[in-house]
Amino acid sequence: MIVLGIESSCDDTAAAVVVDGREIRSNVASSQAELHARYGGIVPELASRSHVQQIVPIVRAALSAADLTLQDVDAIAVTSGPGLAGSLIVGLNMAKGLAVASGKTLIGVNHLQGHAYAGWLYDPASPNPGTQGQNDVVPAAPEELCGFPLLCLVVSGGHTDLALIKSHGEFERIGRTRDDAAGEAFDKAARLMGLGYPGGPVIQKIAALGDASAPLPRAWIPGTWDFSFSGLKTAVLHRARTEGIYPAPEGGPDQDAVAALARSFQEAVADVIATKTARAAVEFGVKGIVIGGGVAANSALREALNAKSSVPVMSPPPVLCTDNGAMIAAAGYHYLKRGERSGLDLDVMPGLTIEEAPSAPAAMPV
Ligand code: KG4
Ligand code: ZN
Repeated sequence: MIVLGIESSCDDTAAAVVVDGREIRSNVASSQAELHARYGGIVPELASRSHVQQIVPIVRAALSAADLTLQDVDAIAVTSGPGLAGSLIVGLNMAKGLAVASGKTLIGVNHLQGHAYAGWLYDPASPNPGTQGQNDVVPAAPEELCGFPLLCLVVSGGHTDLALIKSHGEFERIGRTRDDAAGEAFDKAARLMGLGYPGGPVIQKIAALGDASAPLPRAWIPGTWDFSFSGLKTAVLHRARTEGIYPAPEGGPDQDAVAALARSFQEAVADVIATKTARAAVEFGVKGIVIGGGVAANSALREALNAKSSVPVMSPPPVLCTDNGAMIAAAGYHYLKRGERSGLDLDVMPGLTIEEAPSAPAAMPV
């Protein structure tokens, strides 16, 4: 089954063609990072306007890179939530328009479940396909490698969720952030350190040069699988003030101090997330862990989780951790295989949680 996946929930306009929920035929994205950089975060009005400009060329590019036309695909999967309403609606209307024009099946996808499904993807064009780094042409899917139940960790700019995947499409959330999402914490910490937006990649880069001798506090919230990062953000603010990093002095802050603070911050985030995820895996008796979301691209987090986990950790390559259309196509494939379809009454669901269905059952076939 060939699925065209469309994603526009936040600040990436993305589309991809995926075969049988696993094989990437094309995966095209246009990032708005530069557009939002000078504001230090996403400006919703600018995001939706940019999606409107990008969506048609991106979908065209995804089809043409796969050497296909719309008539060749079997279904169109689109993120219907969660995300920014004004951004979601652009991808959703594009998908509906394509479905009506081509007569193809439409399926709404939960973006957070999409992040988990990145663990099923492999790119035959890449020299080391799949999430396991094997050289086999078709790497084993998580349920073949380990079996259900799996634990999934979704750490993105808007969410930090721990959920059980009991079977395909059956998610049960066991933990979440009580305040900032992990990616939001990276972005805010980077802003305090004068490092720009998005914060994650730049903190990872500069942290590699930093001294780790002054650890920052960790919020463990014992007895729950929840997370909290707002206290850590305040600790970064205090240290940035004490060390003359924030507000930035004339000529900029001392870069050794910035690198040390970035490293302490990254280690605190990675330590808490990896420790709690590895413990939850034991407590719930899961057979493996899949990770996704922009922060799952972080090498310190990946190393910490691999070191602590007693079950296999399936970490998609960084390009599949951040928002992309392929993960939406992969999730959509599994919904379709279970017989689900969306109708033209499919609407955006900005507040959807990881365990909720992305759309009501189709009232009428497309
Ligand atoms: O999943 P994503 O692309 O979009 C959302 O659905 O939110 O995640 C974006 C977030 C941003 O906050 C960004 O700073 C963070 O992921 N991020 C990283 C890294 N790459 C992206 N955080 C830590 N380390 C990275 N290497
Ligand atoms: Zn995302």
